[in-house]
Amino acid sequence: MRAAVLRDVGEVAIEEIDRPVPKMGEVLVKLAVTGVCHTDKTMAGGGIPAALPLVLGHEGAGVVAEVGPGVDSVQVGDHVVLSIVVSCGTCYQCQLGNLSICEVGSAMSPGGLMLDGTTRLTKGDEDLYSLLGQSSLAEYAVVSARSAVPVRKDVPLAAASLLACGAGTGYGAATRRAQVAIGSSVVVVGCGGVGLAAIMGARVRGATTIIAVDPNPVSRELAEKAGATHAFDPGKDRVLREVNAITGRGADFGFDAVGAQGTVELAFQCVRPGGDVVAIGIDDATNEVELDLYSLLMQKRVTGTFAGSLIPQIDIPAALDLYADGKLPLDVLISETYPLDEVPRLLSPDHPLPPGRAVISFEGDL
Ligand SMILES: NC(=O)c1ccc[n+]([C@@H]2O[C@H](COP(=O)([O-])OP(=O)(O)OC[C@H]3O[C@@H](n4cnc5c(N)ncnc54)[C@H](O)[C@@H]3O)[C@@H](O)[C@H]2O)c1
Ligand SMILES: [Zn+2]
Ligand SMILES: [Zn+2]
Repeated sequence: MRAAVLRDVGEVAIEEIDRPVPKMGEVLVKLAVTGVCHTDKTMAGGGIPAALPLVLGHEGAGVVAEVGPGVDSVQVGDHVVLSIVVSCGTCYQCQLGNLSICEVGSAMSPGGLMLDGTTRLTKGDEDLYSLLGQSSLAEYAVVSARSAVPVRKDVPLAAASLLACGAGTGYGAATRRAQVAIGSSVVVVGCGGVGLAAIMGARVRGATTIIAVDPNPVSRELAEKAGATHAFDPGKDRVLREVNAITGRGADFGFDAVGAQGTVELAFQCVRPGGDVVAIGIDDATNEVELDLYSLLMQKRVTGTFAGSLIPQIDIPAALDLYADGKLPLDVLISETYPLDEVPRLLSPDHPLPPGRAVISFEGDL
């Protein structure tokens, strides 16, 4: 099968590798669509270290092609979203319901391994590593059945795929992690695939003031389509002053969907005393955040989220019901559709990702 393989920092190529075989508790999925997340780009550029060679891609949706032993949650032919929440279901965090920080998943995923500590990806005698337990910039992916979320067939797989990572993360940051309150005010720093979905999630939760911050004018336009009531350019506008003028005291909730130097700090400054900040972005794994102590004493709260803290089997189908009902406009996110061959160009350091979400569409019958 064809797959986007990262062999060294900055070196992504489409290679022919072996089609993986599902083991106990796993499923083989034929990919229909895979979104290109900023995390793929950060990993390709070395900003987040990876076990190499790595098969990229972690925002996939497709059709179940084969089920391994012991799987009864999905059947061949089901449409599935491949969630980046890789959970064992039995560890301490899983039992608490914190599936996105499963102790087994978060130990194995960074090393490019499946939950059992081995890899399914090979090219002849060579082992390759997986990204977030899925590696879906490939024609087929083997994933843990717990990460293959069956979804309704009347929803396009392109919209569904967004919930695997980026949109699921932004939506979950607002709905699950922050639990944005009805009538509240929200600031979202960074309006790519993740931030736009945080705006949509805040709107679904009943936020009435949603302030988007992004230097890219096209992203600000998309933010307004996603439900933002105001949009500012951090390079030109005095964001903090604008937020205080609009809200009177600072926003109730702040989200950072960039993870660059100073962006969590901006979200933190924009919230009122007692407000909540959720860090989502990570532009470089070594970035640090500096917060002023007095604001913490004024009861501002800062947390982060992995994968929007989603409970995939519950939240992804529910989000798609909202989509089908016209309440979660995921289509706003999809900017451009490319074939798999375009992945090396999209992930090259001198090619910025387009505003919204670029998605890879796989050819062939489904
Ligand atoms: N926590 C998680 O589980 C998780 C999941 C998915 C992605 N991420 C991370 O979230 C971040 C966003 O991902 P994405 O796919 O939406 O990226 P993206 O490339 O689609 O969008 C990033 C947006 O941020 C904007 N931006 C850049 N610098 C900015 C600044 N200083 N202030 C405001 N906006 C700025 C860009 O113009 C762009 O619109 C990345 O760091 C990614 O790695 C985290
Ligand atoms: Zn991602
Ligand atoms: Zn677990």
